[in-house]
Amino acid sequence: MATLTGSKKIKTAVFISGKGSNLKNLIKFSKTKKSPISIDLIISNNFKAKGLVFGKMFKIKKKVFNFQNKFISEKSILLELKNNKIDLICLAGFMKIISKNFIKNFKGKILNIHPSLLPKYKGLNTHQRAIENNEKFSGCTVHYVSAKLDSGKIILQKKVKIKQNENKKSLEKRILAQEHKLYPKAILKVLNL
Ligand code: GRF
Repeated sequence: MATLTGSKKIKTAVFISGKGSNLKNLIKFSKTKKSPISIDLIISNNFKAKGLVFGKMFKIKKKVFNFQNKFISEKSILLELKNNKIDLICLAGFMKIISKNFIKNFKGKILNIHPSLLPKYKGLNTHQRAIENNEKFSGCTVHYVSAKLDSGKIILQKKVKIKQNENKKSLEKRILAQEHKLYPKAILKVLNL
């Protein structure tokens, strides 16, 4: 993992596809004194991602790649990351699976947040599946990204109790609130802070 030299913050890119509440939260964290990171780049595969608004709001450079050709998009993203001296990538609701080759270029420097207690409920629709299976708990996980979907080494998890009569929306909301606490903690942990 990247290391901190002097007072320089680690240049970080956040990848999003949707509403970007984790992005917003990471930006806020990055502006606190204790933050070892700065958010310097926002990457998306979706021109309509609501979270892109935070680029404008916080004056952070944003770039969208359409992924019609994954190889070409990833190559352009890698160039963009290099040009911006990015040393850490945080996936936050990014709906594209990134390739082995891409991961190789940022080995041990790509984190993801997933809304379940991995290894349970990899993939999509996690809250619905947890409720249908009568789980007592669900939660969220920050993990390193590996070539296998939602399977890289776990960094931190937070358990959330599933209430009686819980629905997908209510659980999602409560877990998202925990995600916002967990991601900054996980970043501090991987940087040994
Ligand atoms: C979060 O639940 C995250 O765990 C998952 O996608 C969702 C993104 O939400 N990977 P947001 O765009 O950060 O609000």
